[in-house]
Amino acid sequence: MPHTSAKRPKRITILGATGSIGESTLDLVGRNPDDYEVVALTGNKNVARLAELAVRHRAKLAVVADAGSYKDLLLALAGTGIEVAAGPKALLEAASRPADWIMAAIVGVAGLRPTLRAVRQGTAVALANKECLVSGGEIFMREVAAHGTTLLPVDSEHSAAKQAMTGTDLDRIECVCLTASGGPFRTWSAERMASAGPEQALKHPNWSMGAKVTIDSASLMNKGLELIEAHHLFTLPPEKLDVVVHPQSIVHCLVQMTDGAVLAQLSCPDMRTPIAYSLAWPERMHVPNERLDLAKLGSLTFETPDPERFPALRLAKEVLETGGSAGAVLNAANEVAVAAFLENRLGFLGIAGLVETTLADCADLTGLSPESAEDVYEIDEEARRRARDRLPRWAS
Ligand SMILES: NC(=O)c1ccc[n+]([C@@H]2O[C@H](COP(=O)([O-])OP(=O)(O)OC[C@H]3O[C@@H](n4cnc5c(N)ncnc54)[C@H](OP(=O)(O)O)[C@@H]3O)[C@@H](O)[C@H]2O)c1
Repeated sequence: MPHTSAKRPKRITILGATGSIGESTLDLVGRNPDDYEVVALTGNKNVARLAELAVRHRAKLAVVADAGSYKDLLLALAGTGIEVAAGPKALLEAASRPADWIMAAIVGVAGLRPTLRAVRQGTAVALANKECLVSGGEIFMREVAAHGTTLLPVDSEHSAAKQAMTGTDLDRIECVCLTASGGPFRTWSAERMASAGPEQALKHPNWSMGAKVTIDSASLMNKGLELIEAHHLFTLPPEKLDVVVHPQSIVHCLVQMTDGAVLAQLSCPDMRTPIAYSLAWPERMHVPNERLDLAKLGSLTFETPDPERFPALRLAKEVLETGGSAGAVLNAANEVAVAAFLENRLGFLGIAGLVETTLADCADLTGLSPESAEDVYEIDEEARRRARDRLPRWAS
């Protein structure tokens, strides 16, 4: 009888465990507890939820990025044997703890440093955070190559692109077309959008996600960020990247080959499918979510995005062409704008307005070529400062 050694559990860490992606990842992990050993879970300020997840998934380490939340976390996990830490250094330490697979699901450019630490382990990083590629794509991909890290895209469109592109040489790919749901304002006039508040913008028709990415989806900035992300992930030039609006969110990406064939990946809109693809990679795992029934759906529709009503997509495309640190400026201005919109300090159309003004005001920054994460953060900080200065001009 051949000896069959039991597979050891995969050691995993989740950066941003308390968020929408983090929770969906833990949902999959919790269904197969013997397959995984949870090394570290991190959050920002949501101590109660982090403590609950750490206990349920028997994490070795729980970290809050917010140093002020240390005592609360310590108290919440007292007597559990789970190691507790807080603050930016502890977050980096969590990302550096040896793990076979690390989910990078912190929202915003705040995820850049910890994700780079994860990349430097040279194992596998599942990348949900898109802002770190938008802001520091060149340096990020350089680190991935230098450490031989397996980078697994988690965004449904990029996961779909990876699946459709596998086995085909890059020069045989004519175009990677990302689909966009169009968000809650797809059919709204600009006048109607002008008076939309967070409550309406947060009502995504198909996906349940964190607040920042939901607002980005409503403005179509999300699709612009994803174009930049795809450019870095797949080393594709801007002219080989495109967007089509597909309100049903069933087809996630279409890859046009040079022989005329188009390969697409389809699934019901549930982030657990692309997360599972990255978690089980290079295998597949079982996910108990809704199965696609095309006959029941009846039809799938596609539209060209409207650059007039959704100027954020145009701005991101321009930034993709500019390259350099334009992405860091775009992202910083957008993070400031989305936070202000969520606090009712900026109207919906002011999001793209503020981003456009900031990009114009940062012409001296957009030509720079960041060499390190520190350079990216410096540009990010300066662009944020200028965006905040211009905020009153756009404020509602
Ligand atoms: N949700 C989706 O379906 C989806 C799809 C594709 C891509 N993405 C991308 O994945 C990333 C996460 O999205 P999400 O929807 O999961 O976001 P989310 O629900 O807002 O969760 C964000 C996570 O990051 C933590 N966090 C926030 N600020 C932080 C900081 N300054 N330092 C360290 N941790 C911080 C949060 O902790 P607290 O809970 O303590 O605040 C939470 O764990 C984003 O880049 C998004 O664009 C998301």
